[in-house]
Formats: sequence, C-alpha cells, structure tokens
Amino acid sequence: MKRIVSNHKMNLTKEEVQAFEREVRNWHPKKSELVFCPSFPYLSYFDGTNYSLGSQNVAKTKMGALTGEVSVEQLKSMNVKYTIIGHSERRNLLKETEEEIKIKVGLCLEYGITPILCIGEKEEELDRKEEILKKEIDSVFQGQSIKNIIIAYEPIWAIGTGRTPTQAEIQETLQWIKDYIKENYQISCETLYGGSINDQNIEMLNQIPSIDGYLIGGASLKTEKLKKIIEVVEGEYDARYN
Ligand code: 13P
Repeated sequence: MKRIVSNHKMNLTKEEVQAFEREVRNWHPKKSELVFCPSFPYLSYFDGTNYSLGSQNVAKTKMGALTGEVSVEQLKSMNVKYTIIGHSERRNLLKETEEEIKIKVGLCLEYGITPILCIGEKEEELDRKEEILKKEIDSVFQGQSIKNIIIAYEPIWAIGTGRTPTQAEIQETLQWIKDYIKENYQISCETLYGGSINDQNIEMLNQIPSIDGYLIGGASLKTEKLKKIIEVVEGEYDARYN
C-alpha cells in the first residue's frame, strides 16, 4: 500500500478546488492511499470517503489566542489524519525553526495525527547531505518518544525545478533514512519521496524499492496528471495504450 500525498500549497481558488474535489471523489484507488492537503479554508470541502485529509501546517500551541493560526484540536475536529511539518518552504521562506518543528510533531502525535516530516538538502549541501538529514531528524526525535511518523525526503533543489536525483540516489537516501532512524530511535518509518514528481517520471520512481509513497506539489493540482500517477502506482497504467 503506497501513500500518494497531494500538497496543494497556496494554490487554487474556491471554484477550482471544488471542481477538483468533485472529480477526485469518484476515484477508487485499491492499492494506495490518497491524501489531499488543501489550503486551510478548503479543508471542509474534502469530505469524500475514498481518500484521506491532510493539512499543510499546524500551530505550535494548542487552541487559544493566536490570530491567524490553526490548532491541532481544530485539525482533529476536521478529520485531518496527516500534517505536513517542516516543509522546506516553511523552514527557509518563513524561517520556521527546528524547535518549532519538534513541538508541532509532538502536538500531532499527542492528538493522533500522523506527522509527515519533510527533510532535505539544498544543492550546495549535496556533499554533506547525511549531516543535514541527521540534524533535521535528530532535532525532532531527541527528547521525545516518537512511535508513528512518516518522513518525506524532498531535496530542496528538486522542488518545482523539473530535476530529480537518480533512482540509485533516491534509493540510497531513503534506505539510509530508514536505517538511521531504526538504529538510533528504534522505530521503522515510512519514507516518501518528493520533488518534481510528474506523470513522466513516476514509472521510473515507482521502481525504487525503498519508496513507500510520494509527496507531490505541482503535478497533483492537475487531475489528469494525478490520475496517471495513481494508475502507474497502482500498476494499472499501460504505456502502450496511452
Ligand atoms: P513539486 O512536486 O511541485 O516539485 O513540489 C514538491 C513539494 O514540495 C511537495 O511538498
């Protein structure tokens, strides 16, 4: 069972997202779990039963006086099952800190929401990738007991650029993440890949043994592209007839 997570980021108007949802509610993936992470105002439109709901962020404190934020209790009450935490856009553009990311992961776990923790190196950090990933993992895991978490490896240089690492590089990095977390924190965790996934490279990506799923931005906003991605992941797409 692979997980296909669609991160809408800050895209789509009300009309567009409603049309999107009307289409995807008719899809019935059999061998994968589809997770939609729309912008906050649209969470309630995603009330279908054949997919799960995720959020793109969560506040670092519980419910109360914090204008403009959305709390973990509020997400739970909207049936949110997954929360993306520590996306590189939030780390780098919004200056989210490792301490904040750690708190958000803890809050999600306390409320039974599975965190999807994003980690990944910048292009200029490629030669010390493991050091970067270790730091991003340790800063969340140290000092709190984590039993259930999904790690999304998103190389920052691959996000929205049309570039991806090779099959061998993705395999090596995802397996390294699994082994590192198992060895140091004694849990087995699911690893997703994210960064420029599209309907053209999904067949190549889907052959990578250590990939448990995908975190998709741009291509997941177009239903025809997302549909083809799902068909490939489900093993139903036959390139000869398309
Ligand atoms: P793209 O698929 O648009 O490269 O975005 C990846 C991403 O950041 C998903 O969280």
